[in-house]
Amino acid sequence: MKFKGQHILSTQQFDKEGLLSLFAEAKKMEKLVKSGKFGKEMEGKILATLFYEPSTRTRFSFEAAMLRLGGRVVSNADMMQTSSVRKLETLEDTGKTVSQMADVIVMRHPEKGSVAVLAEHSDVPVINAGDGSNEHPTQALLDLYTIWKEFGGIDGLTIGMIGDLKNSRVQHSQFGLLKNFKVKYVLVSPRGLEMPSVILKEMGGRAKVVLTPEDMVASADVISVSRIQKERFVSEREYKQFVGQFVVDAALMKKAKKSAIVMQPLPRVDDIAVEVDSDPRARYFKQVGNGVAVRMALLKRVLKG
Ligand code: NCD
Repeated sequence: MKFKGQHILSTQQFDKEGLLSLFAEAKKMEKLVKSGKFGKEMEGKILATLFYEPSTRTRFSFEAAMLRLGGRVVSNADMMQTSSVRKLETLEDTGKTVSQMADVIVMRHPEKGSVAVLAEHSDVPVINAGDGSNEHPTQALLDLYTIWKEFGGIDGLTIGMIGDLKNSRVQHSQFGLLKNFKVKYVLVSPRGLEMPSVILKEMGGRAKVVLTPEDMVASADVISVSRIQKERFVSEREYKQFVGQFVVDAALMKKAKKSAIVMQPLPRVDDIAVEVDSDPRARYFKQVGNGVAVRMALLKRVLKG
């Protein structure tokens, strides 16, 4: 696949070869980070981060990645309140404007398809950092990178998914990338928060939907957890019906494979008990570090090839 000059909007753009070359690049980036030195690949380049939705990790991760490569950053963490959105500027015009000032744009927005709209009007590459419950391709990249590193490959694994499978853009995007590998799925969610039927259909015979977390962990090599996505519910009451129903705790981990790993993009909210943090299978904080390396690799590929 071609990276240079491309918008990165969806996991559908990636093929196996592209993924593996990106992972190899990310490994080199990890070495650069460990060396404590700043790279020069992005010298003279500016990244603009436009966040219309809250973020802790993703924005910092992209910004840290750009800085580690010797680039600079201009950032707005609260576009909804403090940008010209307040004066009713359109996404189209924001795209045209920001692309005059930056070499690459990273954007998160609550509406599906919004990043693609801005990208269409941008003269520089735009990277999707989450568009509503649709996609979050770079989180999925770092998740697969984590799996690839931990298991030395991805083919042959069983991926367990638990949580808000309906609304988790991360789990949707994980599937989008996992399509490039031979894996099986075992899914469990509260009733009403099942994986969208289009995805289930595509998973076909490779997916098993189970009713309890115990049934899921029994066969999962990867336990991919999502929080109940509060901001996607119409009311607090509706959200409260689901939260805390399924919790990954020490008792559940007793039933999981010894070789399994537990992943969560974070934030966690009543979905993984703190006691699991000391379980050697927990990987959710380690994932964050992998995210910087993967985003360094992606920025380099998109800007330099
Ligand atoms: C995720 C997101 O924003 O979709 N967080 C992240 O990027 N690390 C997951 C979530 O918010 O639950």
